[in-house]
This record gives sequence, C-alpha cells and structure tokens, in this order.
Amino acid sequence: MRFGVLTGGGDCPGLNAAIRGVVYRANRLGHETIGFRDGWKGVRDGLSRPLTPGELFDSVTRGGTVLGTSRTNPFKSPEDAAKVSGTLSSLKVDALVAIGGDDTLTAARELFRRGGKVVGVPKTMDNDVAATDWTFGFDSASSVSTEALERLRDTASSHHRAIVLEVMGREAGWVALATGLAGGADATLVPEEPYDEAQLMRRVRSAHGARGFAMVVVSEGVDLGAAKGSAGGADQFGHELLRERQVGQLLAERIQKETGIETRSAQIGHIQRGGPPTLFDRLLATRLGVKAVDLAVEGHFGQVAVLRGEAVRGVPFDEALQGTKRVGADWLELLHTFEP
Ligand code: F6P
Repeated sequence: MRFGVLTGGGDCPGLNAAIRGVVYRANRLGHETIGFRDGWKGVRDGLSRPLTPGELFDSVTRGGTVLGTSRTNPFKSPEDAAKVSGTLSSLKVDALVAIGGDDTLTAARELFRRGGKVVGVPKTMDNDVAATDWTFGFDSASSVSTEALERLRDTASSHHRAIVLEVMGREAGWVALATGLAGGADATLVPEEPYDEAQLMRRVRSAHGARGFAMVVVSEGVDLGAAKGSAGGADQFGHELLRERQVGQLLAERIQKETGIETRSAQIGHIQRGGPPTLFDRLLATRLGVKAVDLAVEGHFGQVAVLRGEAVRGVPFDEALQGTKRVGADWLELLHTFEP
C-alpha cells in the first residue's frame, strides 16, 4: 500500500510523534508513506514528498510538524474538491491518514463520504474532540501554561499584585481548567460557566487579603458580556481568532478598577503550542499514529483512532465528530473546591 499523511489545523506538540508512528508502522508492514505539505492544502495542490523512518527517527522529541500545516478547507469549492481527488489518484494513494482537530477531521469525513480511503487521528491542544478521552497536545500546552502561572506568581507575590493569565482553548475551557487546578489559581474562568463579576472580585479580594496577591486564569473563549472585546478575524472554517478579544487584559483592567488592587495581565498565546511534547503526548501520539495504519490495513476506512481508557481503538467519523467536548460539572466542582 501507499500511505499519505497530513497534519491540519493549529500545530501542537505530538504531531511529529504521530507522523513517526504512521511511517514506522507502515514501513514495518511493508508499505510506503508520502507526506503532504501544509495540511489539506498539500493534497489540493499536489505537494508531497516521500517519508522514511530514517528521517523521522528522533522526531518523537520535537514540537511542531515536519510536514507543515494550514487551516485550509479542501471542500470550499467543487474545483478544490476535484483537485483533492485528482491528487490522491495520480499519486496512487491507497490510504490517507488525516491528523487534526475537528475541522481537519470534518474534511476527512467529507472525503470518506465521497468515496475516499481515509482514516483520522485527533489532535489539539484544546482537548475538545468528543470521541477521545484526551487529545495529544493538551498535556504539553497545559504544562507550559501551568509553568507560566508559577512564574507569574513570583511577580504577583513580590509586588502584591493580582495577575491574570489568558490561555488558549477556543470554546472549551480544558487548558484553563488544567492550568488553574495544577497551578493553584485563586479564580479560573472557563467558557462553560457564565461570567460572574461579583464572584470573581470576591475571590480576588479574598486571596489578596489573605496573602497579599491573587492569581487568575481566564480562557480566551470566556464571554465577558458588556466588557467583551472586539471580534478578531476568522479562519477558513469560520472560527473567530479569539485572542484578539484580549479578555485577559480587559479582565485585569476591571479587577484593578473594582478592587483597587494593582493588576497585570499576560497573554502567552502560541508559546503554549511550542516546545517538545510531554511524555504523555509522545506516547499517545505514537499509539494513535500506529493505530491509524492498522485501521487502514484492516480496511476500516472512515474511522478515527481514539483513546478510551487504557485502549486505543477506531470509531466512525460521525461518532468522533458529534460535537465539542466541553468541561463538565464534575471538573468544575473540583476546580471550585480550591478557590477562596
Ligand atoms: O485550536 C488550537 C488553537 O491554539 C486555539 O486554542 C486558538 O484559539 C487557535 O488555535 C489559534 O489559532 P491560530 O494559530 O490560527 O492563531
């Protein structure tokens, strides 16, 4: 067989480990692999190169994606859709492995519905793909944001300030939740809960009163209602660029105005998405890349390799894409247990 592999959407640590998993497993079973450049754009425009185990031997340790990525929607027009089919048949690709989040996998499902032989691997630092317990990229990104919170605490405690850390995550609060819980924030705001200004101010005052500083984590997707910043641009799938709303900065201004406590904010943006993957992400990405090849070899096209408990298995695209996975009540209860 000839495998094709692509990485689409935002990069995250673990992508290279997943690509390596695909290439090594295919090679071990006697198959070859080509990599498409820059996600679906590479399939649409026929940009590919052969991938060998030799080239990828240490890629498990590196962040980003050696294939490049983009937020290209290959089914935006009938012309583009025809180019995708043309590339796959002219390059004689027997199985395509699409590694990505909701948007990339939705495009893969569309290709499958049109007769394409494709399997999926979920990834995203947002951890919001419904069918899998965890997505790789999330653990690494949240580890970075947790370290950022710890560093900010030094300044907050030295200057007796409040500091707001804004993290990514889109409409799901997983990164904020993990950062707030693991980093010991006094208040963590996630999109899953309505913004409660009185409660936030109470928590900040209480923490500052008790030990002279306060730490707040806010997810970029939190809706501050009247205080909401201006909308950013949108990507090819219509998603607003949420960081342009600057919720962290707006929140810091509000806290300072309401409480009189000197307040600063930090938006760490793409720093969260870079750097080497954690052990958890390396192992998960490797297992899912390998599983994707096995699914294809067994003829289970139209499936996505996911983690359920301890096991990796395949589930149909429809099941994998049945809505955004958001932070549930049990996690929120745990989070608030540690807030003043
Ligand atoms: O989906 C991953 C993510 O990092 C989101 O958390 C964030 O809103 C978005 O991508 C940022 O996109 P871009 O890299 O295009 O600015």
